[in-house]
Amino acid sequence: MKDIQIKKLISAEKARQKKAINLIASENYVSKDVLEALGSELTNKYAEGYPGKRYYGGNEIVDKIERLAQERALKLFGLSPEEWHVNVQPLSGSPANTAVYTGVVPPGGKIMGMALDQGGHLTHGHKVSATGKFWQQVPYGLDQTTETLNYDQLRETGMKEKPAVIVSGFTAYPRTIDWARMKDVCESAESLMMVDMSHFAGLVAGGAYPSPFPFADIVTTTTHKTLRGPRAALIFSRKDSRELWKKIDKAVFPGLQGGPHVNQIAAVAVALKEAASPAFKKYAAQVVKNAKALAEELHGKGWRLISGGTDTHLILVDTWDDGKKDSRGAGGIPGKEASERLEKRGIIVNKNAIPFDTRPPADPSGIRLGTAAETTRGKKESDFRKIGKEIDRILRAKV
Ligand SMILES: Cc1ncc(COP(=O)(O)O)c(C=O)c1O
Repeated sequence: MKDIQIKKLISAEKARQKKAINLIASENYVSKDVLEALGSELTNKYAEGYPGKRYYGGNEIVDKIERLAQERALKLFGLSPEEWHVNVQPLSGSPANTAVYTGVVPPGGKIMGMALDQGGHLTHGHKVSATGKFWQQVPYGLDQTTETLNYDQLRETGMKEKPAVIVSGFTAYPRTIDWARMKDVCESAESLMMVDMSHFAGLVAGGAYPSPFPFADIVTTTTHKTLRGPRAALIFSRKDSRELWKKIDKAVFPGLQGGPHVNQIAAVAVALKEAASPAFKKYAAQVVKNAKALAEELHGKGWRLISGGTDTHLILVDTWDDGKKDSRGAGGIPGKEASERLEKRGIIVNKNAIPFDTRPPADPSGIRLGTAAETTRGKKESDFRKIGKEIDRILRAKV
């Protein structure tokens, strides 16, 4: 690369990534093949439209790439092209969710989504997101005692509010979701069932988390978290008389986006092929085993975990625990300070609100940990137990 400034900065970031222990739950490390596709000449091409229906010439090869990405996406999740459609053009997760609402929720209509401070994502209708400005969020949360979903409460809210869609699938919820019960909630409320599986898509692909596809009408996912692909997103929708997929395709293009990023679509295709391998199945199982090992270690050291543990790649730790230090000295550290202390020692996490947080969002009560990235680097349960001990030691050290 001739641009020395950028070259140096890329090298520095590469070195940082190599050195750090990365516990950011939404990050991962892609393969060289994914990077190669991302950095290819495909970035030069404009391809507004869809395969066979482009607004520019020269798209014969691009059509093949997009169709291959679609085929691989459906195959990976065991879906037949007669029953499901997939749009592989969303630039990322937030535009994908916005495209779904643009397609199937009338302006000002209701989106029932988990509140941000309970574990939902901004694009599930939060007021600072466009999804909360153009549509109306009906927020829901967790049961305060169990810190898990209360499906009866959800049904009650759904039946009262009758939202156009109910979104499930979260950004900071460590448990599996009972999809059959969620379907029942959606049917009772006469709402579309939308699942945002961004966080656990790789686990679904690898058989380590229940698949929402037998139940959902629409499934969105980012491709760069547990799925270990480039930054992008997919929207799956059921092909039936409601023709949701046609409305969603129109919302992606020309509704919200122009030319798709063809290099990104090719890189997604590469990642989808990798995710279909037996090695990826093992990886997904290991991600969950590692998270359980880390959770056990932290719990054993006296840290309060939201919902008591995890079924996924993700753990939410209440580092503040109402400011009370227990007999072993755990607790009493705000999330911001906890994440800063860990970063100084090379462990990268993010501060995170916990359900029913009493502290402000900028300095919440907890931290979120994830095992997807370090599992890609080959770490096993014993490594994560060591990481747990190190986290405990750093957070308890006198400062
Ligand atoms: C559940 C969920 N949906 C959507 C997104 C948005 O993805 P992006 O950052 O690619 O816009 C995220 C990102 O963290 C997420 O966790």
